[in-house]
Amino acid sequence: MIKAIAIIAMGSLCLGAAVAASDPATEEKPYRIENGKVDGSVYNGYRRYGNSCMQCHGPDGMGSSYAPNLTESLKHLSHEQFTETVINGRQNVNASQQNVMPSFGHVEDVVLYLDDIYGYLKARSDGALGRGRPERIGR
Ligand code: HEC
Repeated sequence: MIKAIAIIAMGSLCLGAAVAASDPATEEKPYRIENGKVDGSVYNGYRRYGNSCMQCHGPDGMGSSYAPNLTESLKHLSHEQFTETVINGRQNVNASQQNVMPSFGHVEDVVLYLDDIYGYLKARSDGALGRGRPERIGR
């Protein structure tokens, strides 16, 4: 009897973990920040963001008149939704003005480092990282 209860409890724990994975609020942090300094992956994300996304989404992910503020977007988009949008792109067909998020599926410099870009933007979105060029851990 006790064994059966333990198995049921474990089953619901696993289910809980699966649900948590797609919920942006409880997702495991995809970045490492110590005393305001970032790991190499977040730093790389910052640089890649500057090269490929900033001209539309603005400095530090803060948005522009053309494209949304990604520090706000990542409060409700999951990691999967983020990846899907960047790979496939998106077009806002309802707006009077046509704002296009290009598809980056064929851009190696983005696809290969998309998790780094996500980690950087997620840190910005969580308020764990301020504006501007971050300092790296150990430098
Ligand atoms: C040419 C301009 C442009 C570039 C470059 C660009 N985006 Fe976008 N992006 C947009 C626009 C415009 C939208 C809003 C599209 C819509 O309204 O459907 C958008 C939407 C998004 C969204 C969805 C936001 C939400 O709230 O749903 C994400 C995520 C995103 N972009 C990430 C990126 C990343 C990461 C990069 C760099 C790899 C990037 N974008 C580069 C213009 C751009």
